[in-house]
Amino acid sequence: MVATSNNTAGLRGQVAGKTALCTVGVSGSGLTYRGYDIKDLAEKCEFEEIAYLLFNGQLPTQQELDEYKSMLRSQRELPTALKEVLERLPASSHPMDVMRTGVSVLGNLETEMSFAEQKDKANRLLAVLPAICCYWYRFSHDGIKINTQTDADSIGGHFLAMLGDGNVSELHEQVMHASLILYAEHEFNASTFTARVCASTLSDMHSCIAGAIGSLRGPLHGGANEAAMEMIENWTDADQAEKEIMGMLERKEKIMGFGHAVYRTSDPRNEIIKQWSKKLAEQQGDSTLYDVSLRCEEVMWREKKLFCNADFFHASAYHFMGIPTKLFTPIFVMSRLTGWAAHVFEQRENNRIIRPSAEYIGEQPRTVVAIENR
Ligand code: COA
Repeated sequence: MVATSNNTAGLRGQVAGKTALCTVGVSGSGLTYRGYDIKDLAEKCEFEEIAYLLFNGQLPTQQELDEYKSMLRSQRELPTALKEVLERLPASSHPMDVMRTGVSVLGNLETEMSFAEQKDKANRLLAVLPAICCYWYRFSHDGIKINTQTDADSIGGHFLAMLGDGNVSELHEQVMHASLILYAEHEFNASTFTARVCASTLSDMHSCIAGAIGSLRGPLHGGANEAAMEMIENWTDADQAEKEIMGMLERKEKIMGFGHAVYRTSDPRNEIIKQWSKKLAEQQGDSTLYDVSLRCEEVMWREKKLFCNADFFHASAYHFMGIPTKLFTPIFVMSRLTGWAAHVFEQRENNRIIRPSAEYIGEQPRTVVAIENR
């Protein structure tokens, strides 16, 4: 019989498969993609280099990167049938539901017919996810049918261009590169494991990704950046933040954007996005939200030895760039698609259907009494 205890609840600490993509809490600053430390990658690379690395196993040369980005730019257009579906989704839809539906519709229109197409399908999704989000958002909220072919060089810039008037500052594009790199991959987290379970049945790429989006939607996973924003935006200064956090801790409420299932003392992604958040606050000339966030970090460490995960300072960073809060988690999707798809490739390469066992805690064997005698 499989033993379960609180220590292993949620499969914590269990090795559920092999990967050559990523380590979490093992070496370097705590997170590596294909052997490269996240700090190094976030400092020296563009997000598209990371997508290339995850999909192909090595970083691209300049020429390979130029060709890759040019190919992705050429695939930004949404099919008309997908636009029509997006136009029918209400403004009240959760944007993560829009993303999931968008991927699912694309799976009908551009079905993966064989695994030989897997990289093409992943690249097409990478190119088109920002448009799925922004086309729906601008149509349902502003009544505008946007052009999904922008001049933006990068995926992050493309997203910001569609969301606004088309002009994207260099700083904002840089922050998007860093943010998308930080979110790209994270070993066997809940959404990636979902994608791998789906892939293990030999299902198609779009089903794997749609399932993963469903897992990422929850506030204990990707939804935390949005939930953190909804919390800190209510506080007008650091002292109020401290008072409110203390009250929440007393009431044993969860503080979103803190803690982690694997990291024990810090999340290496936090230091990086925190620096960008500070830069954005300085550029904005209003550091209130940054100061509030900083105080939350101090109080949580002082009181609970809980640290900010990747999501907490993402909230203020995205807010400083004018991104609506409800679109925070879809950005995570635009990035994590790369990790999910790379895991699908890996699962397919050496597949056995994922089918664990359960410890039975139900009734002992008994006899069915005919309905007239019950
Ligand atoms: N706020 C308040 N208390 C928290 C907390 C938080 N953000 N995160 C963990 N804790 C508490 C837990 O409730 C637990 O207390 P208990 O022993 O009294 O039950 C204790 O700290 C240890 O929790 P831990 O085992 O480290 O967490 P986990 O592995 O079960 O869960 C998370 C990990 C990420 C789901 C959890 O930290 C969480 O819910 N964080 C908020 C959501 C979030 O930011 N998610 C994004 C993750 S990248």
